[in-house]
Amino acid sequence: MPPKSIRAILHASELLTGAGVRLKDGRHPEETDLGRIEDGALVYEVFKNGAPGKVLWVGPTSKLPAQYKRVKSKNLRGKQALIPGLIDCHTHLVFAGDRADEFALRSAGVSYEEIAKNGGGIQKTVQATRAASERELLRLACARLKLMRTLGVRVIEMKSGYGLDLETELKCLRVTQALRKTFPDLHLVSTYMGAHDFPKDVDRTSYIEQILEVHLPRVAKERLAEHCDVFVDRGYYTVEEARRILEKAKQLKLSAKVHADELSDTGSAAFAAEIGALSADHLLKISDRGIQALAASQTTAVFLPGTALYLKTTAAPARKLLQAGARVAVSTDFNPGSCPCPSLPAMLTLSALHMGMSRAELFAAVTYNAACALGLQRTTGTLERGMRALFTLTPGEKFESLYYGFGY
Ligand code: NIG
Ligand code: FE
Repeated sequence: MPPKSIRAILHASELLTGAGVRLKDGRHPEETDLGRIEDGALVYEVFKNGAPGKVLWVGPTSKLPAQYKRVKSKNLRGKQALIPGLIDCHTHLVFAGDRADEFALRSAGVSYEEIAKNGGGIQKTVQATRAASERELLRLACARLKLMRTLGVRVIEMKSGYGLDLETELKCLRVTQALRKTFPDLHLVSTYMGAHDFPKDVDRTSYIEQILEVHLPRVAKERLAEHCDVFVDRGYYTVEEARRILEKAKQLKLSAKVHADELSDTGSAAFAAEIGALSADHLLKISDRGIQALAASQTTAVFLPGTALYLKTTAAPARKLLQAGARVAVSTDFNPGSCPCPSLPAMLTLSALHMGMSRAELFAAVTYNAACALGLQRTTGTLERGMRALFTLTPGEKFESLYYGFGY
């Protein structure tokens, strides 16, 4: 590691540590859990290459300890809020091509599933991603990541899944590795998602065997991913297929994540809870049984409101999950088909307007709770002494200045 220096940020209009959210394990977050400090200051370490060190001190600017008074500092003059770095815990960032041609069809009423049946959808992106070089994929991903960073995101999960063959899955996962070198200031999380769809050139059973016997062992051996995700849905993987894949992943020390109950209720949210998955994501069609199962578990419920908007379906039953005591996160699902929008703040706008989420719930959803969805909550997600110094400055004085404006 290169040498590190100490820096400070002073006079934040409001500094939200999120300490109380952590104490409540992210459930039922309320305004009093945000650890609000008026005129706040943060002292932190940063490595020479921009990689975050630890938070050394946090409190009101007036109480800044004498030993930090001379460190290099940034004065926000009460014009911006300071919050834990935003965490986008579910994206499909690495892909080539686009699906602009599907947009008119879907606007006119053709469903996502119908388009997929006619050769569009994920398969179209698979073709483009197979054809693209690793260098081209890296160039495209870099541009997307830069944009997300300007929107305040500091931790980003990204899934493979547009290869559906060993070579391309590995190529996409290597892009994530290369991105880590280019963006040392960000924390990138890699998820293997070979079970995103079925390839057209291999039969279903053989492909699942390939995932189990070839893809997963190779991904684990080369340490190309920390997690494994499966798209469990009507027309995609069944719960029993997902169980085999995620059990194998677990043996190889990859934790489980599930695309659950998105297009139809397959009982996959309850399945995610049952196997101790880190997260169950989407949940547009989740049943009451699924809600109870998630609430009683350590599995984080991840809402992807941009996808509901883009697929023109009803939002996930957020209030029901929140009231039942589920730990709830919000993410973009950034991908070329069901949510080509890279803005996490825009997802907060949608969550507030369409799912009735409060400021405290939104805050928890993109900080501590999103860290839980990635298994990072011991080091990341709050601004407390000893935690990693990943933080975001909002455009205006209040946290909500981040998401009351829309579309960027
Ligand atoms: O999360 N649900 C599966 N995968 C993506 C969509 C991928 C695509 O359409 O390219 C999603 O919505
Ligand atoms: Fe997704």
